[in-house]
Amino acid sequence: MPDLDTRTQIHDFIVGFYRAIIFDEVLEPVFDEVAEVDWAAHIPRLVDYWCRVLLGDPSYVGAMFAVHQHVHDIEAFRPEWFDRWHQLFVDTLVAGWSGPNAERAVAHAERNLGSMSRRLTGSDWTGSAPAERAPSTGVGADA
Ligand code: HEM
Repeated sequence: MPDLDTRTQIHDFIVGFYRAIIFDEVLEPVFDEVAEVDWAAHIPRLVDYWCRVLLGDPSYVGAMFAVHQHVHDIEAFRPEWFDRWHQLFVDTLVAGWSGPNAERAVAHAERNLGSMSRRLTGSDWTGSAPAERAPSTGVGADA
């Protein structure tokens, strides 16, 4: 299996992840009804974001926390959203990619789920036991 080590691999992973979200009964309404996401604009932003995280590519300029805070202001984040987002992210990833960057992607996502949960809901996200998490890469959480 390839690793997430080129823009093309990251693009294919993100498209797969968001395809899973579109068919998910918990998260689809968050994106389509709460945030009314324009998918044609959203996917390239996500690809840029993950290229920054994993490849050091400077193309993403954005305000991750403000974007999720805005969604939260419309409808409060629920614990099951964090669990489902994590499940779809990991399921999509392990089906097609493996290697150091794939592990870094999961570790980065988990750090952000943790910080997002604390900042938005005031409680810890406990969906993944710390022992199962990939070691820190020194890349901090954005959210
Ligand atoms: C409960 C979990 C999550 C939910 C429900 C969620 C939901 C959303 C939604 C609805 C948007 C679109 C907002 C808009 O365009 O108005 C968005 C944007 C985004 N999300 Fe999440 N998200 C979650 C977790 C994460 C995590 C863990 C990461 C990264 C590690 C992440 C990265 C992003 C990025 C990069 C954007 C685009 C920001 C921009 O447009 O600059 N999200 N998210």
